[in-house]
Amino acid sequence: MKMRLCGILSVLLAVLCASALPVPVSAAGGGRPVYAADVANGTYEIEAETLNSSMFRIVACTLTVTDESMSAHVTLSAKGFGKLFAGHGVDADNGDGSEISVFSEDGEGRHTFDIPVSALDTPIPVAGWSIKREKWYDYDVVFHADSLPDGVVAKSGNSWILPCAAGCTAAAVIAVFAVRGSRRRKKKQGDTA
Ligand code: HEM
Repeated sequence: MKMRLCGILSVLLAVLCASALPVPVSAAGGGRPVYAADVANGTYEIEAETLNSSMFRIVACTLTVTDESMSAHVTLSAKGFGKLFAGHGVDADNGDGSEISVFSEDGEGRHTFDIPVSALDTPIPVAGWSIKREKWYDYDVVFHADSLPDGVVAKSGNSWILPCAAGCTAAAVIAVFAVRGSRRRKKKQGDTA
């Protein structure tokens, strides 16, 4: 019975330790979303990746974090996009237009836009308006938190797991020693009887 208890505790311990390992953020943005509250206020360069098209390439991007919100200043390779919308093209023209970013030109004539960013490390929909085709095109973009400077992301989505795993480890060690101690005491009692 006691051996079985030890076995169960060991398995529990192993599972908790494994779950406490950092969750890898894949290139496709398969990690946990990182929100504005997790990032220190400031303006940083960040890598942005389009998952579903080579025709919508973000070649430079700065992320600005202010308390509970994030926005990105993006520079596209293609000059064919005139407007950007942080959402799906079908919804872009439903509002009053204030959420649509019209392009500005940087010193090299590249098109730049300012869009809100709801989260990092997860695909977010961004629609681009093709000037030539007069049509919205939908893309999925991931802003990579691991490209931010060290220490900027204050906490990860699983930060509670490490203290929890440490607590469970301590509990398991105490339980194992308690079981061993009681076994020794019983053996001694048996020897003296
Ligand atoms: C269904 C077919 C396609 C669609 C709907 C499409 C759509 C677009 C759109 C919307 C843009 C940006 C804005 C614009 O110029 O209108 C673009 C840019 C571009 N497309 Fe396509 N495209 C298609 C096929 C192709 C193919 C077959 C190629 C080449 C093999 C190609 C190469 C390019 C390049 C090089 C750019 C400029 C990208 C840049 O400057 O970074 N496209 N395309």
